[in-house]
Amino acid sequence: MPATSVFGAQWGDEGKGKLIDLLAKDADMVVRYQGGANAGHTVVVGTQKYVLHLIPSGILNPGKVNVIGNGVAVDPLKFLEEVDGLHARGIAVDGRNLRLSSQAHVIFEHHRRIDGLSERWRGDGRIGTTGRGIGPSYADKAARTGLRIVDLLDPDHCRVRLRAALAEKNALIERVHGETPLDLEAQVERYVALGAKLAPFVGDTGREVREAYKAGKRILFEGAQGAMLDIDAGTYPYVTSSNTGANGISAGALVPPRWINHVVGIVKAYCTRVGEGPFPSELKDAIGDRIRKQGNEYGSTTGRPRRCGWFDAVAVRYALEISGADELIVTNLDVLSGFDEICAAEAYELNGRRMLDWPAELASIEGVRPVFARHKGWSEDITAVRRFDDLPQAARDYIAWLERTCRAKVAMISVGPERDQIIDCRR
Ligand code: GDP
Ligand code: IMO
Ligand code: MG
Repeated sequence: MPATSVFGAQWGDEGKGKLIDLLAKDADMVVRYQGGANAGHTVVVGTQKYVLHLIPSGILNPGKVNVIGNGVAVDPLKFLEEVDGLHARGIAVDGRNLRLSSQAHVIFEHHRRIDGLSERWRGDGRIGTTGRGIGPSYADKAARTGLRIVDLLDPDHCRVRLRAALAEKNALIERVHGETPLDLEAQVERYVALGAKLAPFVGDTGREVREAYKAGKRILFEGAQGAMLDIDAGTYPYVTSSNTGANGISAGALVPPRWINHVVGIVKAYCTRVGEGPFPSELKDAIGDRIRKQGNEYGSTTGRPRRCGWFDAVAVRYALEISGADELIVTNLDVLSGFDEICAAEAYELNGRRMLDWPAELASIEGVRPVFARHKGWSEDITAVRRFDDLPQAARDYIAWLERTCRAKVAMISVGPERDQIIDCRR
């Protein structure tokens, strides 16, 4: 696995944290390349549960290098909070096992404020963001008014740049949104101080990743969010502000795209979504409530109840195709135990026409009706199963259907949140 991409192939929360932690034991380096602290990646180790937002999910594996690449939007407060939180739990985190790109863009307090104010301004058209300042920070990056981590390291330079940026944002906060502006000087001094604390972690991570690759190290690229939340490929405008699949790696970590020689999509055995936007296989009924209850489907970052629905093979096929994924990891199969019948969308219907392909336009996506394939359920508790052949026949049939319909090999099946609750189908 010299360079492996592992990404979410639905709308996020597919179990990326658990799998990255697991796969990291066979890697040397784990690299985040997009998103920010909007991510909530859960890793369960014995009785301990860790929710990682910015720090790669390889951090719990001693001796691995974890990289926050240039494509990530970094909130220095969240970064340091997470480092401190890990220290407090006895996890060693320093400039050797955690690297932060000098070219990553910064999320400031004004970005978080504007995220919330823009959502309020949008009213019924709101996106349902995580409120972490992601959109406003990436907007500034594209507008070339953003500051990067390197800009925080030189106090005089930081003061000049941040004063200029914040003066404009304060005008927006005050004059457009009618709210109290931020104290400019207090903000400037706060971020200058934060810059000094970040310094030990900061470096030219693009070069570090490329050198590691050239030295034969095994690199794991950890996607955040999911393919259907990708700013280009997803259900725009109900998306996040970055490229979430393997398609984001080259730009977000500064490595050549052809280095990525193994691409794995992670999917839940059903589907969830947090926030607004289309979700064709959503279940707004007692079955959806039951999935939420059995799967404990509440946001890892915001605690919001996740919208739940059946697996959607149309969306997953599309997600896998964009990133060129040839393998699937299916998580949360255990959550489906006890259902008499399990459905999964194999196609859509739009104006009486059957469609197998994901429609690019939002209006079409909003109008589609899922066509469900019906599968027999199983009643057994499968959380202790470790071999594919020991799964109930109905569960094996369901996995075989997923493979056929999504046109990808299932490499692993997760049957619980813990590290060892995994069926490795490659053996
Ligand atoms: P991520 O954002 O993709 O890393 O996923 P989250 O951590 O936001 O959400 C996944 C949730 O499912 C977490 O609470 C995990 O501990 C949990 N989880 C992961 N894999 C499994 C599994 O196979 N079965 C069950 N029941 N829970 C799982
Ligand atoms: P992980 O990495 C699920 C969703 C938000 C909202 C939209 C835009 O844990 O899978 P943003 O704050 O990014 O501007 O919000 O994207 N969203 C996620 N949903 N899992 C995530 O991350 C998400 N990160 C963002 O709910 O609908
Ligand atoms: Mg999550």
